[in-house]
Amino acid sequence: MPPPPDPPLVVDIHTHMYPPSYIKLLSSRTTVPYIYQPTETPDSDPRLIILASDDDPSRPKSSRGRPVDSTYSSFDQKRAFMRRHGISCSVISLANPWLDFLDPDTALKTAQDINDDLDGACAENNNTDSPSHDALKLYAFGCLPLSAPAKDIVSEIHRLKSLRHVTGVIMGTTGLGKGLDDPALDDVYAALSSTATLVFLHPHYGLPDSAFGGPEVVAKSGHVLPLALGFPLETTIAVSRMYLSGVFDRHPQLQFLLAHSGGTLPFLAGRIESCVAHEREFVANGGHRQGPQRSIWDVLHTNIYLDAVIYGQPGLKAAIEAAGSVDRVMFGTDHPFFPPLGNDKEAKWLSVESNKGAIDGCLPEDEAAKRKILGGNAIRVLGLDL
Ligand code: URA
Ligand code: ZN
Repeated sequence: MPPPPDPPLVVDIHTHMYPPSYIKLLSSRTTVPYIYQPTETPDSDPRLIILASDDDPSRPKSSRGRPVDSTYSSFDQKRAFMRRHGISCSVISLANPWLDFLDPDTALKTAQDINDDLDGACAENNNTDSPSHDALKLYAFGCLPLSAPAKDIVSEIHRLKSLRHVTGVIMGTTGLGKGLDDPALDDVYAALSSTATLVFLHPHYGLPDSAFGGPEVVAKSGHVLPLALGFPLETTIAVSRMYLSGVFDRHPQLQFLLAHSGGTLPFLAGRIESCVAHEREFVANGGHRQGPQRSIWDVLHTNIYLDAVIYGQPGLKAAIEAAGSVDRVMFGTDHPFFPPLGNDKEAKWLSVESNKGAIDGCLPEDEAAKRKILGGNAIRVLGLDL
C-alpha cells in the first residue's frame, strides 16, 4: 500500500486584522468608523461601528455595530484559529474601511506605519530562529493611503516591494473618491502594473438602505442585507465600471483578486457581455459608442482571480467556471468576521467549514484541483515561501 498523501497545504488569503495601532485610531473617533467602549459596562467588549447602517440612532450606542474582541487584533488568536482549522499560512489584510476616512495629510504616514507593523509581525512569526516559532506562516496584503495625493499612493506601492512579507495590497471600491473607473487612478494602476502588485478588492460600502426598502427594513435583519447582498453587489458594480471604462484595456497587466468570489460577477458576466455587444450597435442611443475593447471573459481569465469565500457549491461552481479554471480560485475564511455565537470557544467556524465543504462538493474526485484552490494557487500567484 502506498503511504497516504500529505494533507493539502491550506492558505487563507481572505483573513483580516485590525492591528493594535488601527484599533487605537478607531477608538479615538466618534463618527463611523469608530470603536466605542460602553461606559455602563466597562468590562464588556468594545463595539465596532464600521458600516453606516451600524450607527442606527434609534439604538443605544452600547448595542450598535458588533463586539470587537481580541480575535480582531491578536496574532496569537489568529494562529489559534489557523491551528484549529488546519490552515498553514494566512495572508492577513487590514479590514474595512481601511484608510478611506483619513485626512489626506495623515494618510501616507498611517499607511506606512500599518504596513511596517504588518510586515514586522509576519517577519517575527516566520523567523525560524525564534523560540516561539511554529510551522504556521504569515504574510500580508498592505494598505494604500487612498485619500492622499496620487503621487503618495504610487510611492507607497513602490515602497511595499521592499517589505518581504507584503505580497500585494487590499483596496476598497472608492478609489480616490469617485470609484475605480476614475481616470485619475491611471498613475496608480500603472504603478500596480509595473510592480506586478496584486490588488485584493474588497467591499465595504454596500448599497444605500433605499435599495432594500429603507433603514427600517435593513434594521429588521441586522447585517444580513448589507453583508449578504450589499457587499457582493458593490464588488460587482465596481469591477463592471472598471471594465466598461476601459481600465483593463489601458492596463492589461493589472491583477485583481476579488473578494467573495467576485460578488455576482461570475453569474452576470454573460449578461454584461451581451449588453455591451448590443449597446455597441445601438445607433438610436447616440450612434457607435466606444466600449471596452476586450471581452469580459478575457478579462476574467487573465486579470482576475476569485476567492472561494462563497459558502456553497452553486456559487463556487460559477466562480471556477467564470475564472476559466481551478487555477484562478483561492480559499479564504473572512476571519474574524462571522464567529460562532455559542459558548464553545473551540467550535469550528461555519465560514471555514462551509467554504471547505463547497470545495469538496464541487470537485469530489479531483484531489489535485482541490489542492490548488486550498493553497497551491496562492503559493504560486503570491510567491509564498512555504
Ligand atoms: N466581512 C468583512 O470583511 N467585513 C465586514 O464588515 C463584515 C464581514
Ligand atoms: Zn473580508
